[in-house]
Amino acid sequence: MTKDLLSIMDLSAEEMKQLFDLTADLKAKQKRREPHAILAGKTLGMIFAKPSTRTRVSFQVGIYQLGGVGLYLSGNDLQLGRGETIADTAKVLSRYLDGIMIRTFNHQDVVDLATNGTIPVINGLTDLLHPCQVLADMFTIQEKLGDYRGKKIVFVGDGANNMANSWVEGAALGGMHLVIMAPEGHEPDSKILQATESARESSGGTYTFADSTSSDMLKDANVVYTDVWASMGPEAEAAARKAKMQPFQLNSEFMSKCKPDTLIMHCLPAHRGDEITDDVLDSANSIVFDEAENRLHVQKAIMATLME
Ligand code: CP
Ligand code: NVA
Repeated sequence: MTKDLLSIMDLSAEEMKQLFDLTADLKAKQKRREPHAILAGKTLGMIFAKPSTRTRVSFQVGIYQLGGVGLYLSGNDLQLGRGETIADTAKVLSRYLDGIMIRTFNHQDVVDLATNGTIPVINGLTDLLHPCQVLADMFTIQEKLGDYRGKKIVFVGDGANNMANSWVEGAALGGMHLVIMAPEGHEPDSKILQATESARESSGGTYTFADSTSSDMLKDANVVYTDVWASMGPEAEAAARKAKMQPFQLNSEFMSKCKPDTLIMHCLPAHRGDEITDDVLDSANSIVFDEAENRLHVQKAIMATLME
């Protein structure tokens, strides 16, 4: 098993399946209020250089339910914010903690933290990837549809952001059929597309890019997924992106091109009225809050696996 979880590609398809088995087990225990203090006495440091609701609360609650303690570390309050290197920070924190969760901008910083530290590092979102979210999403699809393998997911909106990139990886590892529907120029990271080619081949997954919301691509979708048009980072581009991405809004007209049972997902936070309309987000097909809840259960399995 990998020391760190920086990308979903750190796992094999089999390890991901095991992680989901453990997730289901921990979720059932938590629902029964059965103690599961697998990480008693362990400490997780949680570094945040960007805002968060779900990641922050679910990691803190998750480590507590596992019998450990979580420390919230704001990127600005650490000496990191005053120029202490990532490498030195990694070496020091490795002497105190049993694991680090980090949310930041530059993906390479997370790689450097993991390389220079001796304790597990979990990526809680970078500009490039959001592995914990895509794992929670795939677990949620498994719960709702019995399996994620062979399912078709259409990601619509900003096809170049961390969630779109994470879905390229998730679909490749999990043998899913991924369609990214986005304006031209908003395609997933080309290095990630290339690096996942062999995983796609062995899992039977496929990848397609579409710059229009064609009915042909939507009529057999099992899941449609969207995310904000301007992620944390390129907010200054919000107005320009809004104009460009309007045709890719997840609204009732878009849903009318899908099967009546197509599930609707969003990693949240949503900008209601932009990438998704209220009626769609709040519809019976929307599973966004189950998806948000599963962040807790999946991340507990990740911590238990890496930090035990
Ligand atoms: N989906 C997600 O990561 O949400 P937060 O930004 O609230 O953590
Ligand atoms: N793409 C979004 C995801 C937030 C969870 C962002 O990076 O802001």
